[in-house]
Amino acid sequence: MQAYTLTDTTGPAALHLTEVPTPTIGPDEVLVRTKALSLNPVDFKTSYGTAVYGAIKQHSPLILGWDISGEVTQVGAGVTTFQPGDEVFGMVNFPGHGRAYAEYVAAPASHLAHKPASVRHEDAAAATLAALTAWQVLAKAGLRPGQRVLIHAAAGGVGHYAVQLAKELGAYVIATSSAAKRDFVLALGADEHVDYTQVRFEGVVAPVDLVIESIVGDNLARSLEVVKPGGSLISIIGGLTPELTERAQTIGIEAQALLVASNGQDQTAIAERLADGRLRSHVSLTLPFAQLPDALRQVEAGKTQGKVIVTL
Ligand SMILES: NC(=O)c1ccc[n+]([C@@H]2O[C@H](COP(=O)([O-])OP(=O)(O)OC[C@H]3O[C@@H](n4cnc5c(N)ncnc54)[C@H](OP(=O)(O)O)[C@@H]3O)[C@@H](O)[C@H]2O)c1
Repeated sequence: MQAYTLTDTTGPAALHLTEVPTPTIGPDEVLVRTKALSLNPVDFKTSYGTAVYGAIKQHSPLILGWDISGEVTQVGAGVTTFQPGDEVFGMVNFPGHGRAYAEYVAAPASHLAHKPASVRHEDAAAATLAALTAWQVLAKAGLRPGQRVLIHAAAGGVGHYAVQLAKELGAYVIATSSAAKRDFVLALGADEHVDYTQVRFEGVVAPVDLVIESIVGDNLARSLEVVKPGGSLISIIGGLTPELTERAQTIGIEAQALLVASNGQDQTAIAERLADGRLRSHVSLTLPFAQLPDALRQVEAGKTQGKVIVTL
């Protein structure tokens, strides 16, 4: 089969389309013929030798990617939930070796959900790592109806799902993006928009119960300024230094980090919402498999609206 192998740590240029053996599956795995896959910032970070690279670099060949939608072609002896011909989607083996930039992917059955028939492979593949992150952050925070949440990078992959899921929970959503994406985040359901390029959000946002932090640099320290005492901040980009954690504790804020993890139950909850329209994927760019490195460069540019998808 064809797969992109990572041969170096020089970024997307180090991805090479190569003929590799089709994976064999274990008893609890299924083999999926990939129809669409989605790209995330962790992909390009790993291609530069950071993020997940340290945990997977000993594998050969090294195949990046985690987010797939496709069709089951084989099932392991212990798998009862899927059969050949089923359409499935999910985030495979994150934060381990996903091997998703490939025509076929061996995936633990416990990481997948059935793809609703009404949902395109592109939209299902989109709603994996990014949607699971939003889902798992909101579950960790225990966000309740009427609470106020500040969602940074609301127009991006994680953010555009987080806005929709927080609204479903009955929260009041304040969303940051540049002006060009204002209408998009308001259409997702955000109650307030802050153009982070024009104003410092901490000067205009009234106290919130939760911040979902996804911006590096001094954003995290500034976000702490808008959390109510007793509220919380969940960072998905790390950055919680002992100093910041102590500052948060001093002012009565719970500051935590979260790393998304593959989870078929969470993926099924997302599938239900895609099926009935409570959750929608916004795919802003779809490129063929032959242009995957170009698609990853687009993600690297940091301006993605919704998701970037590659089809096979
Ligand atoms: N810990 C985890 O498990 C986990 C999981 C998923 C993602 N992440 C990390 O979380 C970050 C976001 O991921 P993502 O997939 O959502 O990224 P993404 O889709 O690439 O985000 C792109 C969006 O970021 C917005 N943006 C850039 N700078 C901004 C700023 N200063 N304030 C507000 N918005 C800004 C852009 O909006 P404009 O064009 O309007 O600027 C763009 O729409 C990445 O660093 C990623 O690696 C971590």
